[in-house]
Amino acid sequence: MDERRLRVGVLTGGGDAPGLNAAICGLGRRLLAANCELVGFRDGWRGLIVGATRALDGVDFQRLLVQGGTLLGSSGDNPYRDPDIDVPKVLANLRHHALDALVVIGGEGTLGAADRLHREHGVPVVAIPKTIDNDLEATDFTFGFFSAVEVATRAMDDLRSTAESHGRVMVVECMGRHAGWITAYAGVAAGAEGILVPEQPAELEELCHNLESLRAAGARSALVAVAEGVRLYEHGECLSPMQKDRFGEFLIGGAAETVARCIERRIGWESRHLVLGHLQRAGQPIAFDRLFALRLGARAARLVLERRFGRMAAMRAGDIVDVEIAAAVADRKVLPGHFLERYGSFFLPIGGP
Ligand code: F6P
Repeated sequence: MDERRLRVGVLTGGGDAPGLNAAICGLGRRLLAANCELVGFRDGWRGLIVGATRALDGVDFQRLLVQGGTLLGSSGDNPYRDPDIDVPKVLANLRHHALDALVVIGGEGTLGAADRLHREHGVPVVAIPKTIDNDLEATDFTFGFFSAVEVATRAMDDLRSTAESHGRVMVVECMGRHAGWITAYAGVAAGAEGILVPEQPAELEELCHNLESLRAAGARSALVAVAEGVRLYEHGECLSPMQKDRFGEFLIGGAAETVARCIERRIGWESRHLVLGHLQRAGQPIAFDRLFALRLGARAARLVLERRFGRMAAMRAGDIVDVEIAAAVADRKVLPGHFLERYGSFFLPIGGP
């Protein structure tokens, strides 16, 4: 029987999401109760690359639970951007800190690196999924998503009154990268008259046609929810060609402004646009995300204690379970066809060029 206390590292990577601190809380409380030592790494993978830690002794987990952001800091750094240099640094720091396990809390990019380190170098990794985008496979939802939906829905509810006062169209851009989850859920919840998501090419002529019909039927205002990653088409031509940054990531955003301009130009209905941006990730998590993240953290702690590595805590059919990390990062989870069909009348158009 190994009497040495287990030493467990933890990091939070990628864009922050409401609930990160609650996940740390669920993990930390369970591990400390099992007499483990916890080592926090700062700013995602960067902390493990450069060896920057943050002590987690004495943290008031009860208070932490309710706070937005992440106590550990986050970044988009990834050891596989420059694997020849950074992977050996990560492995050396894991040895230096004599870690028995590493808990990685992140989205696709962060967990993709965790999966590779586990498979290629035997790093004892356990994962917790987070992202407001909800685009990870193998889990029903990721924490942070419903907090973002709440922000976007409330914003659209509020914008309705000013749209109505001025007889305008308000075009609201939501985050989500290449998935339309936030836009679809918030758009349906707020009763938006148009919802444009990346899962369907958006034909602006059809959007304008539908808005015109609404106006002719007496509507004074309209809300259009637009996902930042949507592909916009006019006369069959793509208005939003995908360009990449220096890391090969697609540059996204600006769709709402294009849509608002197009509506004014084509049908002369005064339009304004609003990019909700990082407000969707900011502030305290809603109660659901606090409890959800707490439960995922506790499940991850159990995986560590049972030494079941390469696994990720997840939600399946409402239960907290665990799955292979590889299953979560193999594909990007986008809005399923049945969601689009169920709410079809909100999505413009069905089909597309
Ligand atoms: O992945 C989460 C997310 O908020 C996306 O919805 C968004 O496109 C991106 O991160 C923004 O990243 P950054 O914080 O680097 O601007």
